[in-house]
Amino acid sequence: MSPVSGGVRRNVLADRHVLVSAGPTYEDIDPVRFLGNRSSGRMGFAVAAAALDAGARVTLVAGPVALPTPPGVERRDVRSAAQMHQAVMDSLPADVYIGAAAVADFTPAHVAGHKIKKRPGDAGLVLELVRTRDILADVARHERRPLLVVGFAAETADLEHNALAKLRDKQLDMVCGNRVGTAGSGFESPDNTLEVYWAGGHRRLGPGPKTTIATALIDLLAPRLPAIPEHH
Ligand code: CTP
Repeated sequence: MSPVSGGVRRNVLADRHVLVSAGPTYEDIDPVRFLGNRSSGRMGFAVAAAALDAGARVTLVAGPVALPTPPGVERRDVRSAAQMHQAVMDSLPADVYIGAAAVADFTPAHVAGHKIKKRPGDAGLVLELVRTRDILADVARHERRPLLVVGFAAETADLEHNALAKLRDKQLDMVCGNRVGTAGSGFESPDNTLEVYWAGGHRRLGPGPKTTIATALIDLLAPRLPAIPEHH
């Protein structure tokens, strides 16, 4: 038996590089305003800590969050979806990619150089947004594709249907459906429940603290990695 720490066998990810993205992204509108979201980064940080605990080398690409770096994790701070895309690609190759970040799907077409001022008589303001690049989908079809690519699907409705659509459309190995907008789960909560789907399988993790869920997720994905050849 291998040693056990917090439920994770300490060596199940030995000699593996695990790349995790976490937190929100901020898309600047002008020098004082941005578009953001309610992601706290806690789930991704917990996943990074659990992967480290399982023996992996861990790179954590973090959006703007107020969380300490788990000791031993290599952290790269970013702000926007474009910066996160760049930092993730620069961190490849990895054996596992876990996309836990809540990446903006749209960003302002132009960032105003000066603070946008309202003028008397302005009834409203129209912001033009353009699509961001999908980091998760780009990792999944990268020439240095990790052995396992895991995505998150934060949903307020039709969790299973939407999670399975992401699994298929983004060519993922696993997707973690995450109910948001309800108490005791998802964004801004220390607790979570994940519905994890893969081709032909499903497992519910939780409800429980995000740290416990993260350990269970690492336990679930580690056996799906092909063994490292003997003379590695
Ligand atoms: N994601 C990403 N890059 C983006 C957008 C999302 O890597 N530009 C990743 C997230 O890290 C997460 C998953 O994709 O793992 C979420 O999937 P997505 O389809 O973007 O979910 P939503 O943003 O909720 O989009 P939708 O409106 O389609 O539900």
